[in-house]
Amino acid sequence: MLWIMNLSGLLSAAMVTVVLSPSLQSFPPAEAIRSSHLRRIPTGATTFRQAQAFPNADQCGTGGPGACDPSLVHIAITLDRDYLRGSVAAVHSVLQHSLCPESVFFHFLVLETDLEAVVRSAFRSLRFKVYSFDPDRVRGLISSSVRQALEQPLNYARNYLADILEPCVRRVIYLDSDLVVVDDVAKLWRTNLGSRTVGAPEYCRANFTKYFTERFWSDRRLAGTFAGRRPCYFNTGVMVVDLDRWRRFGFTRRIERWMEVQKAAEGGRIYELGSLPPFLLVFAGHVAPIDHRWNQHGLGGDNVRGSCRDLHPGPVSLLHWSGSGKPWARLDSDRPCPLDHLWAPYDLYGPSL
Ligand SMILES: *[C@@H]1O[C@H](CO)[C@@H](O)[C@H](O)[C@H]1NC(C)=O
Repeated sequence: MLWIMNLSGLLSAAMVTVVLSPSLQSFPPAEAIRSSHLRRIPTGATTFRQAQAFPNADQCGTGGPGACDPSLVHIAITLDRDYLRGSVAAVHSVLQHSLCPESVFFHFLVLETDLEAVVRSAFRSLRFKVYSFDPDRVRGLISSSVRQALEQPLNYARNYLADILEPCVRRVIYLDSDLVVVDDVAKLWRTNLGSRTVGAPEYCRANFTKYFTERFWSDRRLAGTFAGRRPCYFNTGVMVVDLDRWRRFGFTRRIERWMEVQKAAEGGRIYELGSLPPFLLVFAGHVAPIDHRWNQHGLGGDNVRGSCRDLHPGPVSLLHWSGSGKPWARLDSDRPCPLDHLWAPYDLYGPSL
């Protein structure tokens, strides 16, 4: 049986009706990844079209300049050559659905600063700051993982937001580069984290055991870290982070310590994936749960088998192509999955039409 979902209300760009098949089981482990096999795109400022202007609505405050204005919504996102098209589409989607787009401040984490020109030319009057992420900061801590793409240093930049962003930035939304937001991000921003440091949608029916190796579970000194909490899987591609608390409790160091355990691993590795497991080790069971609509993940499916994924049941505020397939690659190769057409309206890559 097919069911038809009308997503037209979600998209201001186009009326899109998508036919989906209802395979609604929970997804296997998927981590937002950088696939090094993807075609690199040239990054002259002219390779991206300029987006329309996105002015604030009348009821929005004007606020002051800089990143320290308390009325701002802060978003951190990485920019690299392989995923640039995805990052630009993500920014575009945020602006398009915000009531107050000029009150959104973007923090771009980069290895190469020349990407700033692309952002500047694609978006007029975008409020942003570019931060150089030093790959040496994590290089010694990264162990080889099941997928080479998971080993890219920029995948680990999310561990260091509290150090990299200015101290006046007290909360940030971290977003992966393979997603689009189809709702006002200010709603996600206002999430109540209670006493928690990280907020994210939790998936308590996912099999948590498989994110760690047998060696981890059989060593009580290691597995004991989950004593007294009920750990659930969450995806680190969409997180609301209380940076004040993060700084106060030194979570960067706690994450690094788990990476050191994995790296040392005399008795064998304790997990197979890349940047995700240390987050699970530190935060699983201590996460402020956010509505699942804010991370409809797994849409990347599996490029090798060419499989397409459906949405989880329920409303959608954010579509996330985690997994190895990316919508731009599938659209370019004329073999898109049905949901890839929801990404296309945000794509700014290519010459002006
Ligand atoms: C969960 O995953 C582990 C490790 O892969 C496996 O041994 C176990 O049978 C799984 N449990 C369920 C309920 O599927």
